Amino acid sequence: MRHTRWVTTTIDQDHQARTAVSTDLWRTAVVYQIYPRSFADSNGDGIGDLPGITSRVPYLRSLGVDAVWLSPFYPSALADGGYDVDDHRNVDPRLGTLGDFDAMISALHGADIKVIVDIVPNHTSNRHPWFREALTAGRGAPQRDRYLFRNGLGLRGEQPPNDWESMFGGSAWAPAGDGQWYFHCFAAEQPDLNWENDEVREDFRRTVRFWADRGVDGFRIDVAHGLRKDLSEPYLPWDEIADIIRPDGSHPLWDRDDVHEIYADWRRIFDSYDPPRFAVGEASVHPARRARYASADSLGQAFNFAMQDADWRPEDYREVINSGVADMINSTTSWLLGCHDTPRVATRYGLPLEEDRPAQKVARQWLLADGATPRLDPALGERRARAAIMILLALPGSAYIYQGEELGLQEVADLPREVLEDPMASRTTKEKGRDGCRVPLPWSADGPSYGFGQHVGHLPQPEWFAAYAVDVQEADPGSMLNLYRRALALRRELFVSDDLHWVESESSVLHFARPGGVRCITNFGAAPVALPVGEILLSSGQLDQSGLPSDTTVWMRAR
Ligand code: NOJ
Ligand code: CA
Repeated sequence: MRHTRWVTTTIDQDHQARTAVSTDLWRTAVVYQIYPRSFADSNGDGIGDLPGITSRVPYLRSLGVDAVWLSPFYPSALADGGYDVDDHRNVDPRLGTLGDFDAMISALHGADIKVIVDIVPNHTSNRHPWFREALTAGRGAPQRDRYLFRNGLGLRGEQPPNDWESMFGGSAWAPAGDGQWYFHCFAAEQPDLNWENDEVREDFRRTVRFWADRGVDGFRIDVAHGLRKDLSEPYLPWDEIADIIRPDGSHPLWDRDDVHEIYADWRRIFDSYDPPRFAVGEASVHPARRARYASADSLGQAFNFAMQDADWRPEDYREVINSGVADMINSTTSWLLGCHDTPRVATRYGLPLEEDRPAQKVARQWLLADGATPRLDPALGERRARAAIMILLALPGSAYIYQGEELGLQEVADLPREVLEDPMASRTTKEKGRDGCRVPLPWSADGPSYGFGQHVGHLPQPEWFAAYAVDVQEADPGSMLNLYRRALALRRELFVSDDLHWVESESSVLHFARPGGVRCITNFGAAPVALPVGEILLSSGQLDQSGLPSDTTVWMRAR
């Protein structure tokens, strides 16, 4: 093996100076995202539930995560997978009771796992008592002021107030039936709340306290960059505001400066608990605006979606890492490769890399074609996903893992149209939607739903799920699951402070050093590259005498 000389460069002088060991668990926590309806079904009705989660606490413990985040489990008609909430302070009876919630949280806490719940403050469902009241109360009634009602255009208000579009396609306005229209950024079943209304503000304070009092450790804030809106006339035409990412807070609907007043208010509530409650914002904003959501007087953390959107290229990863690490100087950063809104990582990385279309787009086109074109190479995708999670878990900051990523699950592309649940699929012909990453998890190679429950699940699982089942992977030392377990255990031991230094290397290699000289090295190129002399701590793939193979990451201690 050829030996290389290592030149250490520093990302940032301030950052280099700060070697203190972080005492804040959340700054480095690994959080596992549970999509409750697809995790584990305890009573055989095809829907994952809270007792199902409780039954799998030993699995979560053995995985080695610090916390779980639960996507909504609140009463809902599931017009948007539970993000259409009927009652923010209750459990959907199909998923259990508040008693089941208490039992779940105590089992998780007993296993030393913290619990984050989803707060959905941008909208309610259209079945929420407030929205029903708003519709029946009629024009001009104070009940309508909790939402965003406006007069329609035309003689009898038969046209929507403007041409703005919903994030799920189609108009962002739906008729109230009396000449007024209500605004909805997402599905028509998700009317947007008016955050200038005091009752709205007070109700969410109550919701935050309700869950914090029940022992919840933190909150994931849905659409944290929404909430405050400028719906004053004259309205800008949609084509001037369709691009929602702006560097200056000037968009009428997204990332407005005054949204942070709401979080400063919640911060007082979070900090009134001992220990203070944690929060992470789902804020798809300009990178320069992310740190503000992650600051100590706002939410404290904000998802850094840049890695989820990055293509499998060393320069993309380098850029994303630099910008996330820069966020850490004054706030925090949090890395993720996937979530319930995006095609599975092993699939994105197994489709052909294109020059002018990001992997996210390629994967969504592939989904529209039911997985027929372009051709997916699942083994390549899995190999890269293995290398990618080792990069992610070697970084300073916190990390989020979406359920099933630890199994290397691929996106299910061929779900028949008639079983699709995502409103995106029905509101637009341009997307097949997000159900392909929400198919119930396979726990065992056998059974009617591969151990998910005693009957089939709410979305059909393909036969190839058997090979990805937890029991199959537990028996295979080289499985994705065992890689995750080893990486998570080692991460605790190795990466105890925030330091990260780039190590000069050839352009197809990503190489950085972490505390104690531990190196994370990834070969994005086609040919093997030489490794420094030293001790290999963990490798995402088989190593041999030729060095570090293509699409492989190692953690090692160089001599
Ligand atoms: C973001 C959530 O992650 C997504 O699943 C949902 O559709 C929208 N917010 C609307 O609540
Ligand atoms: Ca169930």
